[in-house]
Amino acid sequence: MTPPSAVPSITWDDGVIVAIDQRALPSEQRLLRIETISQLIESLQSLAIRGAPAIGLAGALGVALSARLHHANRGVGEEAVRADAARLAEARPTAVNLAWGVRRALARLESGHEAVLADALAMLDEDTTTNRAAVRRAADLVEALVPERPLRVMTHCNTGRLATAAVGTALGAILELADRGRIEEVLVDETRPLLQGARLTAWELGEAGVPYRLCVDSAAAAAMDRGMVDCVLVGADRIAANGDTANKIGTYGLAVSAARHGIPFIVVAPESTWDLELHDGSGIVVEDRAHSEVTGFGDTVTAPAGAAAFNPAFDVTPAELITALVSEQRTVRPGRARPGILPDAAGTAG
Ligand code: MRU
Repeated sequence: MTPPSAVPSITWDDGVIVAIDQRALPSEQRLLRIETISQLIESLQSLAIRGAPAIGLAGALGVALSARLHHANRGVGEEAVRADAARLAEARPTAVNLAWGVRRALARLESGHEAVLADALAMLDEDTTTNRAAVRRAADLVEALVPERPLRVMTHCNTGRLATAAVGTALGAILELADRGRIEEVLVDETRPLLQGARLTAWELGEAGVPYRLCVDSAAAAAMDRGMVDCVLVGADRIAANGDTANKIGTYGLAVSAARHGIPFIVVAPESTWDLELHDGSGIVVEDRAHSEVTGFGDTVTAPAGAAAFNPAFDVTPAELITALVSEQRTVRPGRARPGILPDAAGTAG
């Protein structure tokens, strides 16, 4: 699934965080070497590093970086590391993985900076293992839901290896289905305004040799109406206890359209994306981003001077519109459970 030569989206090298600069793809493959917490925060906020699992790992590696810079050991430097951790955790508000990664790495601080780094590196490995389990489970589910014909799947944003340590979530499941010979075509939503679909998902699918076409975001419902979509697979940034799911803006509209056309709508995300402290999605903080992302692209201005824009980075899809939420541990079918969500004890679609 992952090309053998693939550079990891985020890793650690001799005291620095090394990450693929996702802003430059697909035209340029550029690596960032991140040596300070301010640089890391800027990389997160500008989406050089993006995708919920990847930003969780960045948070953990950031705590390791801070602990190293402050020579944290047996209480020494602890206050400074905790201050850096607080800034990091707030860099982006919606994906719960960021605060989770920071919190988990901080829990090792008393044992010194080497222990923090060891745990952050373990998290990179765990991300790969958990995602591999989740994508297999999701692929099994899709095969069970649409058993007969070659699949035409639709996806939104980027949920592949770039958004994780490796493997991916929803896009990982699509690549798993491709490995099983089940994919006819992937319709990739462009994902306005920052084009994570057109730039990143298309790049990953091209790398893997999987047939795809870009889909104008606003053409998604029309594609479903024309019978071009058998299943929709997306990732998540935060899932509330009842299954309401925050993901890239446009996901909610896709779920409404999929329900209208009777098309399975599946969310693939690790357990670390669930926020069980939130009963439902109304408590999810949605990041609002700059007007300039909508009024132009790159250096080109496309709207009249002074135009304002509504630019939420995410929306929240109500659980009732989701056919299944799939993690490394369980397949949850919110439409069926009453009240709230019941984990599927057998680990398969209920
Ligand atoms: O703003 P982004 O690009 O970080 O948003 C990413 C998404 O919404 C992804 O779908 C989500 O994080 C899942 S990534 C496996």
